[in-house]
Amino acid sequence: MKADIAEVLLDQEALQALCKRLGKQITEDYKGKPLLLVGILKGANVFMADLIRQIDLPVEIDFMAVSSYGMSTESSGVVKIIKDLDQTIEDKHIIVVEDIVDTGLTLHYLLDYLKARSALSVEVCALLDKPPRRRVAVDIKYKGIDIPDVFIVGYGIDYAEKYRNLPYVASLKEEAYK
Ligand code: IMP
Ligand code: MG
Repeated sequence: MKADIAEVLLDQEALQALCKRLGKQITEDYKGKPLLLVGILKGANVFMADLIRQIDLPVEIDFMAVSSYGMSTESSGVVKIIKDLDQTIEDKHIIVVEDIVDTGLTLHYLLDYLKARSALSVEVCALLDKPPRRRVAVDIKYKGIDIPDVFIVGYGIDYAEKYRNLPYVASLKEEAYK
């Protein structure tokens, strides 16, 4: 597995520092508000686990699983919901927790979907962002860090379901996915 790694972009220390900063911001902004964090499976699982432990408030968690329709490796913008929320959200402030925002199409669809379900508010917390790849605007209120337009894996993020268990975020050697 490690032989496929080109470069480590964020090591464990850097990832913990990002979670700490984001958790602190969320703690300050949501004091006294009913907060539900919605993690997008499977990629956001590891980030979510570290992030919630940096939030010093009562916070509930839930998960959604989605997949893009179609055979393309690029997001199509049409999203199929594989696992929906386990609860109603009219009385909650929502933060959607994503691993990485690329074209923005997945998140754009999900935000519309959650807003239509009348949450008190809906914001986004994303660990990684690739701004040059964006096709539709998404407001990321809580952002970890911008990364260059390279394919990355680790810390929950996969290539063909592999590499999620790497404890760092890294780029893959081209021969590992071509
Ligand atoms: P978007 O709809 O194009 O923004 O898709 C975002 C989703 O694509 C992320 O949640 C990831 O699951 C996946 N993705 C985007 N970039 C990468 C990458 O570099 N490595 C692995 N998965 C990625
Ligand atoms: Mg994802």
